[in-house]
Amino acid sequence: MGEDLGFSKGLAGVVADATSVSQVQGEDGRLIYRGISIEELAEKSTYEECVYFSLYGKMPTKNQLTKFNTELRHNRVLPKAVEAVIAAAPRSAHPMAVLQAAVAAMGFDEQPVNLKNEDANIHNAIKIISQLATAVAHISRDRRGLSHIPPNTEMSHAENFLYMLHGKVPNKEEARIFDVALILHLDHDFNASTFSARVVASTEAKLSLSISAAIGALSGPLHGGANEKVLEMADGIGAPEHAKEWVLNAIATKAKVMGFGHRVYRTMDPRAKVLRGMLEKLVATKSDKSTYETLRIVHDTMIEELGKTSKDYIWPNVDFWSGSLYRLMDIDSIDFTPIFAVSRVAGWSSHIIEMWRDNRIYRPSAKYVGPTDAKYQDIKNRK
Ligand SMILES: CC(C)(COP(=O)(O)OP(=O)(O)OC[C@H]1O[C@@H](n2cnc3c(N)ncnc32)[C@H](O)[C@@H]1OP(=O)(O)O)[C@@H](O)C(=O)NCCC(=O)NCCS
Repeated sequence: MGEDLGFSKGLAGVVADATSVSQVQGEDGRLIYRGISIEELAEKSTYEECVYFSLYGKMPTKNQLTKFNTELRHNRVLPKAVEAVIAAAPRSAHPMAVLQAAVAAMGFDEQPVNLKNEDANIHNAIKIISQLATAVAHISRDRRGLSHIPPNTEMSHAENFLYMLHGKVPNKEEARIFDVALILHLDHDFNASTFSARVVASTEAKLSLSISAAIGALSGPLHGGANEKVLEMADGIGAPEHAKEWVLNAIATKAKVMGFGHRVYRTMDPRAKVLRGMLEKLVATKSDKSTYETLRIVHDTMIEELGKTSKDYIWPNVDFWSGSLYRLMDIDSIDFTPIFAVSRVAGWSSHIIEMWRDNRIYRPSAKYVGPTDAKYQDIKNRK
């Protein structure tokens, strides 16, 4: 028998490494990127500036940001092999499956990793961040039977993405709302997809292959896939007048309500607050408010009812409002999780670059609970 090891299911509370990319302060409902609160970044910064900050660890000067933007904008066109992988996917495929394959295909011509050449690794990350947005827009248009819109080098990351998705230049307000949504999703310390990216990259696997693994982790309904499920839930409820009863029934039957709960937050997710503020402004300009109304009732009823129980630590997370915001921008719910990846790819990359400065392969131990002296039985004697 080996040593009797204790373990933490789901690695809850386990400190796996050190990072200065971001910190979730769960008790206080606070999230910081390299020390700055996301509320302040959402108000004053842009996605591009936050990506630079995340990758390089310092805010860019005006010149550095201009140079960075040029690099990001001129890497938007997908290599032919990536286009071919996207084209080969059936229209019925979930876009996260296609995206995972497309990003893996970005590794076809990627050089083996040289941990000492951080500069090359950062430029590679910028290329992947840039191309991933194009891939998501192209995958969406293929599914909808529409031709691809080539990227535009004059537009910001958010504007260009919406342009490639819809085929029309977005108005300034919507582009800014989308830009802020990208800022809010950029990083979130050791969540499941970031941890996946780090585990794969710790083997010195290529950046694209590590990010492809993170996309697989993000696709699950317990992680990034929750934003799509929130809208499915709202559609299933049907109309605002059914929402309260639906929630009471969900609580009584112990069903999980998507967009609620978090491993670290014990209060409202700060990203949910910022998203809701933007959503309310956007809703006011639209005639159809029914999805928002349904979700507002789900939200209020959940908080009120769970507040009376021992589960008063379950609060809305980022995924609760992001979907309704995107729906108001005419984005299909199946594209919500890929859009999460459009932003989070910068966080994944930053973690990998940081980790490679002092890399050690992740290799935890397991508490073995199986037999230790089982006998091999010949196949003809097995029942
Ligand atoms: C995020 C999540 C995976 C965290 O998981 P976790 O830390 O392992 O939390 P647990 O699943 O152990 O939850 C603890 C308890 O709260 C309950 N709970 C957690 N999330 C809940 C939710 N969204 N709705 C209702 N109950 C919930 C669990 O059922 C569990 O109850 P039990 O003790 O009676 O079994 C979980 O809250 C969840 O599945 N949420 C819905 C999906 C989602 O929105 N994901 C996006 C996260 S950003």
